[in-house]
Amino acid sequence: MIYVNILVTGGAGYIGSHVVKEILKKGHKPFILDNFSKGHKEAIAGGEIIVGDLKNKEFIDRIFQDYKFDSVIHLAADSLVGESVERPDKYYQNNLIGSINLLEAMKKSNINKLVFSSTAAVYGDAQEIPIIENSLTEPKNPYGRSKLFFEEILADYDQSFNFKYISLRYFNASGADPDGNIGEDHDPETHLIPIVLKTALGKREKLEIYGTDYDTRDGTCIRDYIHVNDLARAHLLAVEALAEGSDSNIYNLGSGTGYSVKEVIETARKVTDKNISAEPSERRPGDPPVLIASSAKIKEDLDWQPKYDDLNTIISTAWKWHNNNPDGFND
Ligand code: UFG
Repeated sequence: MIYVNILVTGGAGYIGSHVVKEILKKGHKPFILDNFSKGHKEAIAGGEIIVGDLKNKEFIDRIFQDYKFDSVIHLAADSLVGESVERPDKYYQNNLIGSINLLEAMKKSNINKLVFSSTAAVYGDAQEIPIIENSLTEPKNPYGRSKLFFEEILADYDQSFNFKYISLRYFNASGADPDGNIGEDHDPETHLIPIVLKTALGKREKLEIYGTDYDTRDGTCIRDYIHVNDLARAHLLAVEALAEGSDSNIYNLGSGTGYSVKEVIETARKVTDKNISAEPSERRPGDPPVLIASSAKIKEDLDWQPKYDDLNTIISTAWKWHNNNPDGFND
């Protein structure tokens, strides 16, 4: 499969910009649709930029008339658990209405293949570790529910309209492209690794460890950190699988190893050679104690293998970017 036109919604975001880079590497052409509420123009390595919002139905319909896409990767979404509890309206508008508008525009243009960015948040408190795709889905917040609802809509579209999709349930996306040109820059930043590295840079005085009394090996929460380039490659494998006639599917994407908050901080101290000040604090509401993925299914079906699956490498690549860009992107 060569030189295909791939629409990437949310292509200017953290994960989207790494997906766009991977698309370019493979010789395809990315079209980046983004409203730039969070994304950065500077993060886009190439392709064509289309500025607009998925909530604008006329706009999205027109895009599909003006361009000919072979495939769609849909990442545009709000993705903060805490914010979703305060503003469920925003999450259902952006993540659900926007996604349905996209689906309808695709249907009208007879494009019936979609790679969808989903999340481990669909599982809620894990009933088993590692989590498999058939594990109970019981999201604990509007963010997770918005993603799960849309997966269910996709399944209905498959059933009734022969619409084929691959949904990728990400665990903790982290790290940065090893070339150091793109990385993670959220405002506000809520994610552990960038907060730890900003503290190493002196941009923050200290960080808080949200809960040290969990029933885990050192009392802090355990997460499955997956390198963003490994995540990006999985999207391309999914696009190719759909192009080759794959059935609809749902895959977990994690590295299969869990690290605690304290282990992340300790590794970052070694990588950066900085004394990163961290102090215990209250639990953050809604945090499951342990989330670790089984990614056996995507390894088996799509031959996906993580390349950067040790925490040291993940934090080293993130550190390279943060060190080169202590104030993040310029835009
Ligand atoms: N943490 C701290 N201090 C901080 C920030 C985070 O102790 O300053 C802890 C959190 O409590 C959690 C761990 O670090 O235990 C990881 O937190 P992140 O915010 O980096 O990531 P989450 O696991 O909360 O969230 C990620 C994605 C979400 C997704 C979720 C799935 O960012 O989009 O995984 O559970 F919904």
